Amino acid sequence: TKKAVLGPLVGAVDQGTSSTRFLVFNSKTAELLSHHQVEIKQEFPREGWVEQDPKEILQSVYECIEKTCEKLGQLNIDISNIKAIGVSNQRETTVVWDKLTGEPLYNAVAAPVSPGPSDPVAVVPSGSSVPAAGTSSVWLDLRTQSTVENLSKRIPGNNNFVKSKTGLPLSTYFSAVKLRWLLDNVRKVQKAVEEDRALFGTIDSWLIWSLTGGANGGVHCTDVTNASRTMLFNIHSLEWDKELCEFFEIPMKVLPNVRSSSEIYGLMKAGALEGVPISGCLGDQSAALVGQMCFQDGQAKNTYGTGCFLLCNTGRKCVFSEHGLLTTVAYKLGRDKPVYYALEGSVAIAGAVIRWLRDNLGIIQTSEEIEKLAKEVGTSYGCYFVPAFSGLYAPYWEPSARGIICGLTQFTNKCHIAFAALEAVCFQTREILDAMNRDCGIPLSHLQVDGGMTNNKILMQLQADILYIPVVKPSMPETTALGAAMAAGAAEGVGVWSLEPEDLSAVTMERFEPQINAEESEIRYSTWKKAVMKSMGWVT
Ligand code: G3P
Repeated sequence: TKKAVLGPLVGAVDQGTSSTRFLVFNSKTAELLSHHQVEIKQEFPREGWVEQDPKEILQSVYECIEKTCEKLGQLNIDISNIKAIGVSNQRETTVVWDKLTGEPLYNAVAAPVSPGPSDPVAVVPSGSSVPAAGTSSVWLDLRTQSTVENLSKRIPGNNNFVKSKTGLPLSTYFSAVKLRWLLDNVRKVQKAVEEDRALFGTIDSWLIWSLTGGANGGVHCTDVTNASRTMLFNIHSLEWDKELCEFFEIPMKVLPNVRSSSEIYGLMKAGALEGVPISGCLGDQSAALVGQMCFQDGQAKNTYGTGCFLLCNTGRKCVFSEHGLLTTVAYKLGRDKPVYYALEGSVAIAGAVIRWLRDNLGIIQTSEEIEKLAKEVGTSYGCYFVPAFSGLYAPYWEPSARGIICGLTQFTNKCHIAFAALEAVCFQTREILDAMNRDCGIPLSHLQVDGGMTNNKILMQLQADILYIPVVKPSMPETTALGAAMAAGAAEGVGVWSLEPEDLSAVTMERFEPQINAEESEIRYSTWKKAVMKSMGWVT
């Protein structure tokens, strides 16, 4: 049978901390035609260490593409209509690989507790028992805390040296210190750098290099949004910053070329979509901003993934926060197009707390079950859960914080803890929204939201109650992938997506209005803040 022909289609890879997805959209309506998702392992070889296997990540991308293409075939949709592919990705996660072999310069397996006599991977720093590391160092990883402390003692000039160039505080979160750690601790990395074989990249670079041919001509690039999360990139000049590279002692030869977020980087070299251009690349939070069409100054979105990331477009102005927010590159949709900036409030743990309840406490079997538990009680009964597993990010940037559950009584049960976990996601969002309102001066009148967790109706209602403004959610929550697809489809030489609202006609909106009174909302919020104070100073 002849396959149905639709308008041009665009695919998007959404490589997140918890899973990889490939999704295919109709570029004339933004209708999601098919997708496939694969969960990604996270290894925790030591307390505070979070690692992933770059090869598993790459494999998951191929698997998602192949499965999605099969599903499209079953729907009678011809995959030759896919005209471009966009990539959006978890940011900051750091990979170093060998450009001659295409192999990541780390074991693909989580680390042994201490290096065996014949283990060539690790150099154990004097005075520590740091084992051979595993794979890519994930954004949540805390192993670089002492590196950060040492670096902060020798910041040149004033304390603003890093922040004024990058918009970021010196923190374990960003790639530069993870790369520094790899250079200091992994002999294979040191050797490959000496022999000019090492390439560094965030997940977008690793994927684009591999998908466009890897050791056989792969393109080593990144886009301005991902570069802006490395702490090596000057967000004013839009170039790698020589002084920052000297400060972090990073050899500039390992860094990828920085490109715009919407241009043809290269062609797929293998698989069902061989020959299709990869022409969009955005860090996942920037991708969601684009997917929500937040193109105007003052428009904001909050994405609920592993963490929660609230970004507000500040237009062509680089706004520096007085309240713990980051300044970051929002997007640059074309080589000759202007760059747009955003203020970002980053919360480390959101969806990850649900995964923790599932995998570590076992009180739910699937993530979706949290809604059922929370609904059974409809209240946390005075229980507060601060999931500061990796310290606290915005607005506190407090590495000494650790998770606490407090306000427990003999009456408290797992349903109350489940409810408190959902409330924690909402309270953390309220904290960054408050900071955003203070920095921007004009309070947000509503919040646009997206991400997998927004399917949870209790969470959405709680969010509206706790923010005390309406929460607006698109019918299709995969806004991150949509943004990457839009950037890819709009690229010069592809030109199948116009970035006008009419090209999103398949996306409808759902609104959640606050239902409790303002006083109750404030009381709950101030008790949350008390709990946050108790979580701080735990690690000395
Ligand atoms: O900065 C980290 C962020 O990009 C990770 O996103 O979707 O894995 O929560 P996600």
